[in-house]
Amino acid sequence: MSTGENMAAVITVDGPSGSGKGTICQLLARELDWHLLDSGALYRLTALAARHHGVELDDVEALEVLAAHLDVRFKPRKDGETQIILEGEEVTHAIRNERVGEDASVIAALAPVRSALLSRQRDFAGEPGLVADGRDMGTVVFPEAELKIYLDASAEERAQRRYKQLISKDPGASLDDILNDIKARDARDMNRAVAPLKPAPDAVRLDTTSMTIDEVLQSVLDEARHRGLR
Ligand code: DC
Repeated sequence: MSTGENMAAVITVDGPSGSGKGTICQLLARELDWHLLDSGALYRLTALAARHHGVELDDVEALEVLAAHLDVRFKPRKDGETQIILEGEEVTHAIRNERVGEDASVIAALAPVRSALLSRQRDFAGEPGLVADGRDMGTVVFPEAELKIYLDASAEERAQRRYKQLISKDPGASLDDILNDIKARDARDMNRAVAPLKPAPDAVRLDTTSMTIDEVLQSVLDEARHRGLR
């Protein structure tokens, strides 16, 4: 960021579920050789920790304590993937579960949980730079970021993408159910009172509905180049 304690450059990528943020951020961080923050993973980890400790999703005080003291390690592996360890247990795949995603979306609406995770997210910033993936990266967590991207795609296209990912693992997956889940999660993420999902006023908006991953990546890299970030 250009102000504050940490002067390293930041590129924020925000957008709804299935907009391609996760894939684009991984490719971007690899291409630039920058750090990567998957902020959704922190909300998912808090949701999973709540389940492990028998904390109800409406117990705001207990959730705040869990979020503030999350015992998590992100261990880069040789193959480029990151292993996620929660309280000594590997949860890399467990946090991607649909139910954990639903729970994460519910607790992400709680202001004390969001505040508890704020400094942990900012700690990811560092040289040579950070790619930050989330919903409020450009609006709340890194408002001074050098480049802000907002990725979007139609709900139908995002449901198709999720369906294609799921069908190989779960032959019973239903496109209609996925579309309904996506719409419900969009509504929750966009309409919550704190840090709702929305583009920062200075964000570059990309509609990825008819774009390939490579086209999106090239557009973001072009924007980064225009700003002297590579
Ligand atoms: O990106 P994801 O699906 O892993 O995120 C899981 C949930 O966490 C999502 O429904 C919204 C929430 N989230 C958020 O509120 N703010 C962020 N910066 C990242 C995720």
